[in-house]
Amino acid sequence: EIERTLAIIKPDGVDKANEIEETILNEGFTILQKRSLQLTPEQASEFYAEHFEKPFYPRLVTYMSGGPIIVMVLVRENAILHWREVIGPTKPSVARETKPDSIRAKYGGDDEHNAVHGSDSSTSAEREIRFFFPDTVFESTLIGD
Ligand code: CMP
Repeated sequence: EIERTLAIIKPDGVDKANEIEETILNEGFTILQKRSLQLTPEQASEFYAEHFEKPFYPRLVTYMSGGPIIVMVLVRENAILHWREVIGPTKPSVARETKPDSIRAKYGGDDEHNAVHGSDSSTSAEREIRFFFPDTVFESTLIGD
């Protein structure tokens, strides 16, 4: 199935954006949309609302609103799972052990500064794409429905 997913190059990954975008294209993704922006703390809090209870939530909000990010809508067969394969495990230390060619292995720092984000399901992909690109039309969105 052809899918869309949301990729974010996080503040610590932006200086490697060219290398990351080259990997994206080499992996057969089409970059359908791309924006560079800086989240406000309020927007970062909302984007990561599902992590509200986590001990790292306040730090995550500060980090993700602390500098520019690049957000992209990627398209490909099986895009959601494939992008998560390409970025590797959440923790860069684990990525370096188990998937040394992955983006987080190559460009990530610590557990928090892991260079990139990828949607983890079709439900979150749709929510996350709409978060940054509110005009996006999904197949289930029929005018008058
Ligand atoms: P991501 O999977 O994109 O979304 C949740 C983010 O929280 C994750 O990337 C990291 O940036 C951050 N995160 C996850 N686990 C930790 C942790 N143990 N300590 C600090 N930050 C974390």
